Amino acid sequence: MSGKYLVTGGAGYVGSVVAQHLLEAGHEVVVLDNLSTGFREAVPAGASFIEGDIRDAAKWVDPTFDAVLHFAASSQVGESVVKPEKYWDNNVGGTMALLAAMRSAGVRKLVFSSTAATYGEPETTPIVESAPTSPTNPYGATKLAVDHMITSEATAHGLGAVSLRYFNVAGAYRTPSHGTFGERHDPESHLIPLVLQVAQGKRDAISVFGDDYPTPDGTCIRDYIHVADLAEAHLLALDAARPAEHLICNLGNGNGFSVREVIETVRQVTGHPIPEVVAPRRGGDPAVLVASAQTARERLGWKPSRADLAGIVADAWEFAQQRGK
Ligand SMILES: NC(=O)c1ccc[n+]([C@@H]2O[C@H](COP(=O)([O-])OP(=O)(O)OC[C@H]3O[C@@H](n4cnc5c(N)ncnc54)[C@H](O)[C@@H]3O)[C@@H](O)[C@H]2O)c1
Repeated sequence: MSGKYLVTGGAGYVGSVVAQHLLEAGHEVVVLDNLSTGFREAVPAGASFIEGDIRDAAKWVDPTFDAVLHFAASSQVGESVVKPEKYWDNNVGGTMALLAAMRSAGVRKLVFSSTAATYGEPETTPIVESAPTSPTNPYGATKLAVDHMITSEATAHGLGAVSLRYFNVAGAYRTPSHGTFGERHDPESHLIPLVLQVAQGKRDAISVFGDDYPTPDGTCIRDYIHVADLAEAHLLALDAARPAEHLICNLGNGNGFSVREVIETVRQVTGHPIPEVVAPRRGGDPAVLVASAQTARERLGWKPSRADLAGIVADAWEFAQQRGK
């Protein structure tokens, strides 16, 4: 059955890919984005666009929406350390305003972009949802606070919600007729697009932050999930959301790749030598972050189908080349 969905942050990387998937599935999509880190041209053709802020959500959330998919947030870990107030205001204050608007309008279904950063340094790997949550930066703390807020909204007011805790989102989504949707953060902080910038000649070398971790090649291991696999999970989450329940699901491939493996894969895909420079470890960077996606498999019926790192990098490379300099 087709529905009408409000997509906050739909001019950003993940939100635009999910909005495009919703349109392809025959749904009506309204994107709400203040363009603080997003791009007007990333909003899929076919979606309505409101340039506005989630902190003013009451102006736009009305009873005609079947659900809200909430991507809008500030999400730069480093910036959150030096400007925590921005993160508490936008991520927590913004979501509080959104939840209030949904309550007033009677919109009772939410899918929220949470993050692996809610866990902090994991005690065991792969990480399950019942693992301790002890974020190591304000970004993760604000996302965890929002998860708690959503749980109490579900308990007190019957909201049906799913929080998806993404691990490292990567890759690009190529559509048959509407171009390719990909990652373009500014400043960029994610490893794959940064390494691709070296291949494009936009950077001289890639910094490897620490090569003395207790991992096989000494560099950090992360779980990379293709943005199209992630988008499919959001559509499944809309079906899985039940009134008065807050379901939390990790989303990752369950496979870890080290920083050096990523760099080597980019060398193979692009044919560029990719010089690397070893830099000191960054505080709060765990050695290994790998998801258990067992809950997503069981509760959403989700299965990633694009887990191959070379394929993820090839899609991101195509998008980077398309955008050019
Ligand atoms: N990309 C990842 O690897 C990753 C991992 C874990 C979680 N997440 C979460 O997923 C979501 C999307 O991430 P992304 O990588 O697409 O980021 P992004 O910066 O590309 O997209 C966020 C969008 O939200 C918009 N926005 C921010 N504050 C807003 C506000 N107050 N009102 C309206 N719009 C606002 C921005 O303009 C942008 O278009 C974020 O919530 C992020 O925390 C991302």
